[in-house]
Amino acid sequence: MTGGCATECERLAALGETLDDLPAARNWRASVQALSQAPDVETLSGERRLDVLTAELRRLFLGDAHRRADPFMKSPPHDGAPIGLGDHTVDFTYERNLSPHPLEARLASYRPAPDGWTGAHVAFRSGMAALACWLQCRARMVTPTSGQPLRLGMRGGYFETRVLLELLRGTGLVPEILESAEELERAVLDSAVDDVLVEPVIYDWELETLDLAALVAAWRGARVAPRALVIDTTLVGRSFPVDQMLARLRGRPPEVVVVVHSGLKLDQQGLELANVGLLSVYTPRDAPPASADEIGDLLRKMRTILGVSLSLDELVALDAPFVLDPAATEAYQHDVFRNNALLAHALTQCVGGIFAKVAHPSLGGDAARPWARAPFVIAHLAEDDLRAHGLLLAVLALEAADRDVPLVMGSSFGFRHNRAETIIPRLTQGRGLFKIAMGARSGPARAATIRMIANLAQLSDVDALRRAYPHAVPVTFPEATA
Ligand SMILES: Cc1ncc(COP(=O)(O)O)c(C=O)c1O
Repeated sequence: MTGGCATECERLAALGETLDDLPAARNWRASVQALSQAPDVETLSGERRLDVLTAELRRLFLGDAHRRADPFMKSPPHDGAPIGLGDHTVDFTYERNLSPHPLEARLASYRPAPDGWTGAHVAFRSGMAALACWLQCRARMVTPTSGQPLRLGMRGGYFETRVLLELLRGTGLVPEILESAEELERAVLDSAVDDVLVEPVIYDWELETLDLAALVAAWRGARVAPRALVIDTTLVGRSFPVDQMLARLRGRPPEVVVVVHSGLKLDQQGLELANVGLLSVYTPRDAPPASADEIGDLLRKMRTILGVSLSLDELVALDAPFVLDPAATEAYQHDVFRNNALLAHALTQCVGGIFAKVAHPSLGGDAARPWARAPFVIAHLAEDDLRAHGLLLAVLALEAADRDVPLVMGSSFGFRHNRAETIIPRLTQGRGLFKIAMGARSGPARAATIRMIANLAQLSDVDALRRAYPHAVPVTFPEATA
């Protein structure tokens, strides 16, 4: 049977296939081949070499993208030749007005409009740019007034989305954070919100899974149902059944549905080629106030004016064939979700020491929901203060070095390797979110990471951690921005 690292060699080689003509890629391919045959391939040091080869593959893709994009000026001469991307050509006079339509065409196949709906697909420079443009366009679509502002209810936890809503709060937009499932249902049922923004798994300490049945019931029971539904699928990838949800809202559909996510994490095989916010607009086929195409055009206009589209080199980097390939992406997401569920189940056996609780959608009563997935695990520290978080991170780094476990201390999620960090949403709150983001690989680092964190978890409390690692210098934290 092929082990996790040899399998990973095969997968990397397949990802790099389109680069075969590049001389540098030949050396890289030979190194991948050599590692797959090496006697120590299935060891931690084999896995470390995979990290190096993965980073090299990323650089090969980016180098190739630059080789293709760099000859074009940001303001190319008007009589210059267009650049070819697959079946498409891209032409622009000034980079801010570059249309990433080749990527948007892929997005249309990746996330087609459900039956009875039409769709438009728009790519932005990041998930936050997509959300911000949507909110600005929405204000333009509904022309709110101080007497009749747009009331937006958010059941989601992503810190920066919350900051965005606060930044846009004004006479025209009145956002409300709905802090529980009950508050969401009540707000919908009472027609207290015009638009609803949900995260199917909520990005905060609990990683709570959205109760779709309850939301649909409230929606159907409301005297006036919400007009717009925005679903941020960044954490759950392709697992949220938008089509089923819309089928269940038949007869009371919103006038517009937006599915949006950050495409940096779970859509690029862990290579982080370029950040991208991917937004799909769906409107009912019969007589919506504005069609998906009209809304798409408005979003593109806003994107161009604000300069939040992709640059040419980013667009070319995202031309890699696996980006937005539905089958490849689903398989990748499956591996990431599975590995995080494995960690969550292992850690939940060790609560009562330094961890008071482990949160992951695969634990508990909602685990059967298809979107009960997350690309990381949150462990609640029994002593949730910044010193304890700082100490834990320092100890983890020491342990990883001692055991030769390739654990990266860093942000985000959806990599091929494993990561850990503490997010401090607000320094003044003095509370942290300790997050372990297992990657897609199934080599020995996965079990070693789980074992290492589970061992630490078994210490009775933070004092015991301090005594066990007297030389650990606690990490200190800047204010979190992501
Ligand atoms: C749930 C959620 N929404 C939005 C975003 C923002 O995406 P980006 O970082 O691409 O702006 C993120 C980023 O992690 C996220 O997790």
